[in-house]
Amino acid sequence: MIPIRNTTVRYGQVAMLLHWAIMLLFLVLITLGLIMTDMEDSDLKWSLYSLHKSFGMTVAALIICRIIWRLMNPTPVLPDTLKSYEKWLAHAVHLGLYAIMIIMPISGLLDSYGGGYKTYFFGLFEVLPKSEPRDKDLEHFALAVHVYGSYAFYGLFLLHIAGVVKHHFILKDNTLRRMLPISLKDE
Ligand code: HEM
Ligand code: HEM
Repeated sequence: MIPIRNTTVRYGQVAMLLHWAIMLLFLVLITLGLIMTDMEDSDLKWSLYSLHKSFGMTVAALIICRIIWRLMNPTPVLPDTLKSYEKWLAHAVHLGLYAIMIIMPISGLLDSYGGGYKTYFFGLFEVLPKSEPRDKDLEHFALAVHVYGSYAFYGLFLLHIAGVVKHHFILKDNTLRRMLPISLKDE
């Protein structure tokens, strides 16, 4: 039985659910973001913008839960077979991914606010008003952070996946297993 909370050897159900839900939403958001910014102006384009913003706020809510849950739980320790620079790299990549999870929703919201657009959650209620008048400096700054943030995410994501592949297929340890609802090798 997988525990609900993390232990020092594996992630629990809540951390796993949040990790994989956030991963899926990131893939949806990046795909939507790249498609919608590449389209000619049309009603469909603006609907995709609204969808992107609503999914972006959904992931922001999950990210807040994830950070709180992480602070309330032990973090599984990295295997002792890792050299100290490998441990440092794994921690740096995780920290970078957390930074991206905080920076992307905030810069997206500020881009929308500065651009003079109200932000709605799936058309149900207003989350953020619009800047009146339009604040072009804020809009341009937030957009640059959002776009460069997405580039930083691509780099960190590649390092993250490279680490997982190395652990699972070369070192053949429990790293991937402990983020999945399956038993560990020595259990
Ligand atoms: C983790 C959450 C998010 C991710 C990963 C993400 C990712 C992206 C990506 C990859 C793009 C395309 C950038 C490009 O032009 O290359 C984009 C554009 C955009 N995003 Fe997000 N986004 C997120 C959250 C949000 C939120 C919460 C909002 C606003 C409420 C938002 C508003 C926008 C807007 C307005 C654009 C279009 C910018 C333009 O006009 O060029 N995003 N996003
Ligand atoms: C196919 C995609 C992905 C796979 C296979 C994957 C796999 C994993 C695995 C196996 C771990 C556990 C590492 C350990 O035990 O130390 C982990 C941790 C982590 N992953 Fe992913 N991941 C993916 C996507 C993502 C994405 C998109 C993000 C960020 C948006 C992310 C952020 C993190 C973070 C921050 C941790 C550290 C967890 C913590 O200690 O709080 N991952 N991932």
